[in-house]
Amino acid sequence: MADNQDYDLNQPISGTGLRQGLTSYGDAHFSLFLRKVFIKAAGYGEDALSRPIIGIINTGSGFNPCHANVPQLIEAVKRGIHLHGGLAIEFPTISLHESFASPTSMFLRNLMSMDTEEMIKAQPVDVCVMIGGCDKTIPAQLMGGISANKPVLPLITGPMMPGSFHGQRVGACTDCRSSWAAYRAGGLDVEDIVGINEELAPTVGTCGVMGTASTMGCVTAALGLMPLGGASAPAVSSARLRVAEQTGAMAVSVASNVERCRPQAILSRESFLNAITVLQAIGGSTNAVVHLMAIVNRHPEIAGKIDLATVDEVGRRTPLLVDLKPSGDNYMNDFHNAGGMVALLLTLRPLLHLDALTITGETLGKVLDATPFKPFPYSKELIRPLSNPVYPDSALVALYGNLAPKGAVLKAAASKDRKLLEYEGPAVVFENTADLAQRIDDENLKVTDKSVLVLKSIGAIGNPGMPEAGVIPIPRKLKGVTDMLRLSDGRMSGTAGGTIVLHISPESAIVDSPFGIVEDGDLIRLSLAERRLNVNLSDAEIAKRVQKRKALLESHGTAVHGKRIVGSRKRGYRGLYETSVNQAESGVDFDFLTANGQS
Ligand code: FES
Ligand code: MG
Repeated sequence: MADNQDYDLNQPISGTGLRQGLTSYGDAHFSLFLRKVFIKAAGYGEDALSRPIIGIINTGSGFNPCHANVPQLIEAVKRGIHLHGGLAIEFPTISLHESFASPTSMFLRNLMSMDTEEMIKAQPVDVCVMIGGCDKTIPAQLMGGISANKPVLPLITGPMMPGSFHGQRVGACTDCRSSWAAYRAGGLDVEDIVGINEELAPTVGTCGVMGTASTMGCVTAALGLMPLGGASAPAVSSARLRVAEQTGAMAVSVASNVERCRPQAILSRESFLNAITVLQAIGGSTNAVVHLMAIVNRHPEIAGKIDLATVDEVGRRTPLLVDLKPSGDNYMNDFHNAGGMVALLLTLRPLLHLDALTITGETLGKVLDATPFKPFPYSKELIRPLSNPVYPDSALVALYGNLAPKGAVLKAAASKDRKLLEYEGPAVVFENTADLAQRIDDENLKVTDKSVLVLKSIGAIGNPGMPEAGVIPIPRKLKGVTDMLRLSDGRMSGTAGGTIVLHISPESAIVDSPFGIVEDGDLIRLSLAERRLNVNLSDAEIAKRVQKRKALLESHGTAVHGKRIVGSRKRGYRGLYETSVNQAESGVDFDFLTANGQS
């Protein structure tokens, strides 16, 4: 079906697909002519090129086993697209795996978001299916997709299956931590730990517990951007391939309604409130709070209108319903078999904003009406009814106080010793991770089971990429102690637990950070009921110590950029990162990428 009007100079060029963004050469007709020359080199005919073009972002990589099923998913997405009259064209972006992105995958999340945004904008796609899965990939893609503002449909790779060791189920990565701790404490011998190592990740896919990857899958479904079954179908299941086919089909229908289905048009404040409700109900990863803030702040109309206080507010009225590791006992495939997001959203229905739009333009309420599900006994154990929650409310809370004027986050539901949630104790301070590694197991460390462990310099700037070092190990000399109040400006893995206060802001690498001046012996007070995190120091004493620290930095000639203690100025991406990254409560995004230049 030749479109001769393309070359008729009297006809303006309009429409979608290959005709998008014909700005080069000052001659749109020639640009289109050239574009067709080159795309035809790949063997496409005029009929194919007259269809809506659905881009598929390929994030497969030999270093990303969480994405090892991407080739099969692409094939299934293509099938869905072609069966419904679209043209599928895949293209790569960078891929990030938690274990193979040094110094941290978080350091590179914003780079992936820039890659995603710019490639969606640059290339002539009408709609884009974004295949992601491992922790930082979905956030990066949502941030980039919202900023690019072409319709996007996330497709996650899906969780891995649990393994089995001596008849007991094990799965990455909650059981990675508990097994290693048991081995360190002498409870497992070397043969056992080697055997467990073989079974912790027995299939491709993302970590099989409610870690960051699974949390972000559930949150994305709650945002209305993907089919509801898309949050939990295992990576190696036929259900996952059918979700992929369905995503391709949905993408084609979205292509006929591009304006209405742009992410900035679909996503509203209510969509994000629904996402936070789900985050609280699943006892999701603390990392998801940082990612959600970054995602919100990419949306010009919602930026700054949802913050940590909103997460806390929603938490106060939302019970924890899902009994999954690390807060509970089960794995993602159990959640899927229990009805997954359909069952959860139907249970949460009274707490949701049902008029929030979904990617096809339908409201969430309508989607749920069309997806009936009858909970069965097994389902009700895993996805509890509102009347019988795992935890009554506030799985994730925001704290404020003179130690965290801009906020901090605590996963109260993951506390192992609940008396620590209303607690006062003396600080034992580690200045950075090297200091921690050197002294934590030292017999002479002045620490008791009443101490509060404090780790500085693992914030967004202080240790670029904000490593997941917030779960400070219990000092070896405190044998038998299973939990302590621990504080840091860093993150923890979504698969970890304990009474761990994270994301303290401003972080210690900001010159006037109160957290940066805490010393051994200072009394730290946490009150979950009051949502307070305080240090027992007067404002005057804090100001005095800040001045002292500034003077010390100057005398050492340490470079300070704005208020950021950056050591020396760096070249390349790291230089860009250190001078542009914002604080945890804003999402650890680059200030120049946010919708309102938030620093
Ligand atoms: Fe990829 Fe856990 S390592 S999701
Ligand atoms: Mg993780």
